[in-house]
Amino acid sequence: MITRSFTLAAGAAAILALLAPPAGAQAGAKLKVGLMLPYTGTYAALGTAIENGFRLYLGEQGGKLGGREIEFVKVDDESDPAKATDNVNKLIKRDNVDVVVGTVHSGVAMAMAKVAKDTGTLLIVPNAGADAVTGPMCALNIFRSSFSNWQPGYAMGEVVAKRGHKNVVTITWKYAAGDESVGGFKEAFTKAGGKIAKELTLPFPNVEFQALLTEIAAAKPDAVYTFFAGGGAVKFVKDYAAAGLKGKIPLYGAGFLTDGTLEAQGADAQGLLTTLHYADGLNTPRDNAFRLAYAKSYKLQPDVYAMQGYDAAQMLGIGLAATKGDAGKKAEFAAALRKARIDSPRGPFTLSASHNPVQDIYLREVSGVENKKIDVASKALADPGRGCRM
Ligand code: BEZ
Repeated sequence: MITRSFTLAAGAAAILALLAPPAGAQAGAKLKVGLMLPYTGTYAALGTAIENGFRLYLGEQGGKLGGREIEFVKVDDESDPAKATDNVNKLIKRDNVDVVVGTVHSGVAMAMAKVAKDTGTLLIVPNAGADAVTGPMCALNIFRSSFSNWQPGYAMGEVVAKRGHKNVVTITWKYAAGDESVGGFKEAFTKAGGKIAKELTLPFPNVEFQALLTEIAAAKPDAVYTFFAGGGAVKFVKDYAAAGLKGKIPLYGAGFLTDGTLEAQGADAQGLLTTLHYADGLNTPRDNAFRLAYAKSYKLQPDVYAMQGYDAAQMLGIGLAATKGDAGKKAEFAAALRKARIDSPRGPFTLSASHNPVQDIYLREVSGVENKKIDVASKALADPGRGCRM
């Protein structure tokens, strides 16, 4: 009898334990999300847009993901790779965050990925395209809601070749994002028979473009391909026009050149063609609803960064729903995301084996203050995930 009631009690306890929420949630603890983003410097507006998008999705879910309320711990990473390891270590070791969401700058993101891999902390990258994050640094606990630097560059390499250009000069910042964006462009463009006449660079976040624009004018290429973003992109487009190159040498770019920047670039950006995984004028019910909700909340139109922040929150929600709010169950979290079809404003996407979005890359043309979709440059483009072993 004693044995029987013990067994029953033990069985009931085991069932209760199975049904119970994870330790943190049981105590009513909030899930701690470390937001590591730039809030100052040339990428400041990008960081704010990502946070806005993340908060918008969270608000739509009643402030909870996987049944848990969210508490934010924020760090301004200043887009400074030298401070990145300390910053992310503080979030993980001092503030005990459950998940890290960040960042914009590829150099900072690579330092974050190293720490996330070493500590096993969940990391969702809502912008930085560093190929290595979903390449050699890939891991079960690292995901991206955005793109790899290779993706828009590769798509534009095909577009520029198809438009009949043979001889191109590239210009960008000398760091992973610029190098890899140009690398993707070059891969597709040279495969199609194109030639890169010159690869011009300047250090990030330098915006003294004059000497390089003079070199472009002297080289007289058929076209120019570029990666710049944020404040630097605004200045580059304006300087390109002021140097008399607009209308003479066609300028093409990864879409960051004109996303979130058009109010400031004005007439100098009109007609520019860029490639990106988001565009204005998609006119789908999903995107229209997102845009309306974003405009109501922030009195602003969303850009690609806001959309990526929104999808980072969606991805966190999908993983946490599968683990009942337990961020420590990494295998279950990853399994849920690997089979998910994420209902993004950009259009639905899945994740590759290395956890990077497999997505359509749009060809867009600047018209007024919009990057209007004019075509799909590359359908369901998957980053090759070179070097990823999981
Ligand atoms: C990057 O560093 O990966 C990046 C920064 C801004 C826009 C796009 C990519």
